[in-house]
Amino acid sequence: MRKSIIANHAKDKVLKNNIFKIADRANKMKKEHDDIIDATLGMLTHENGKVFKYSAIDYLLKNFTDKHYYPYAPFAGTRQFREGVMNWVFGKHLNNIKETFHTKVIPTAGGTGAISNTVYNFNNYNEKILIPNYFWPAYENIADESNVKLEKYDMYDENHDFNIKGFKESAIKLAKEQDKLFVVINDPCNNPTGLELGEENWEKVVMVLNEISNNKVPVVLLLDIAYIDYEKDGYDSSRELFKHIINLHEEILTVISFSASKSFSIYGLRLGAQIGLSKKKKIINEFTRVNEHSLRARFSNVNHPAMRAVGKIFTITKYRESYIKELELARELLKKRADEFTRIAQEENLDILPYGGGFFIAIETNKENIFEKLIEEHIFVIAFPGLIRIAISSLQFSQMEKLVRALKKHV
Ligand SMILES: Cc1ncc(COP(=O)(O)O)c(C=O)c1O
Repeated sequence: MRKSIIANHAKDKVLKNNIFKIADRANKMKKEHDDIIDATLGMLTHENGKVFKYSAIDYLLKNFTDKHYYPYAPFAGTRQFREGVMNWVFGKHLNNIKETFHTKVIPTAGGTGAISNTVYNFNNYNEKILIPNYFWPAYENIADESNVKLEKYDMYDENHDFNIKGFKESAIKLAKEQDKLFVVINDPCNNPTGLELGEENWEKVVMVLNEISNNKVPVVLLLDIAYIDYEKDGYDSSRELFKHIINLHEEILTVISFSASKSFSIYGLRLGAQIGLSKKKKIINEFTRVNEHSLRARFSNVNHPAMRAVGKIFTITKYRESYIKELELARELLKKRADEFTRIAQEENLDILPYGGGFFIAIETNKENIFEKLIEEHIFVIAFPGLIRIAISSLQFSQMEKLVRALKKHV
């Protein structure tokens, strides 16, 4: 008998519940029906369904000369991009971050590239990473691809606040079992729930991680900030969590995954960054060594024009100001949609999870066939175990009443 053509480590791989496949199904139905409500993809669109473009990005991308389009991008990123990302991500905390940590920025193919390289390089095969029970499904694909398993804790307590107690118990237990802890936190503006941890919880998360690190257990915090620029109270508020990150134990490695897809609406161009922070130079040297290798081996240099355009927005005042103005409009649009959704949900007595900003509103439900039931009503949302996610980022005001009523009927 012939051996399998698939490698042993790949033989069980199946892409289940892929959000892109569901969005494709919605798009196919749109060709036959004009009343399809598509709240699937985490992509920001205007009321007319067109992508929310930022004019500075659009202008820059359309006006580069060949030398910024066709050649490979600098492997380590342009200086404008590297320094600009630090500046943009940390805002008023930048100096404090730089004085406290050794840092390294590595350009990646989207936030996904940053997450994927981090999971791969900091976990042994069959080790577990700690995530909440509601999570972005790609984390599971990424873990599978790296032969890593998931350990979950309940994200909410009985009051629908972040379940810090459950997080602490699970973190301590896993650290004891493995003599190692790798935690993924997607905040602010969690996908799929819209949860925002807030400062009080961040302070406690840092205390838990420090307690574990104090016991000589290696700790990695992967902080996925994909939706940070869409937090409902704006730029400064979304960066307050860094006040607490600064207090992390000296042996902890924090890896921040930044998504240019979300922050600049350049979903198709595949750009992001992996930012390493540690108080130990040795840890950052190791971080750089292994992740630069993965960069070369897995997807190589990133998208050149995207990196140039983003680098210019970060560093040239006129582009930055134009971007910031439009980003405020984007936040306002999301806020109006969230407010309207919440208002109708209240009228209909439909419970939604607390919304802290970002692209998604979620509703807990145990109805297993809700996804298909909603499709019968020409509504596409994403179903997770115990929850459905509504991408308000691509939902139009005119669709909300019908959507909320259908949700109420089926949850
Ligand atoms: C929670 C979360 N993290 C990271 C990403 C990364 O996106 P990208 O690879 O497009 O930057 C996404 C995209 O949907 C996301 O929802």
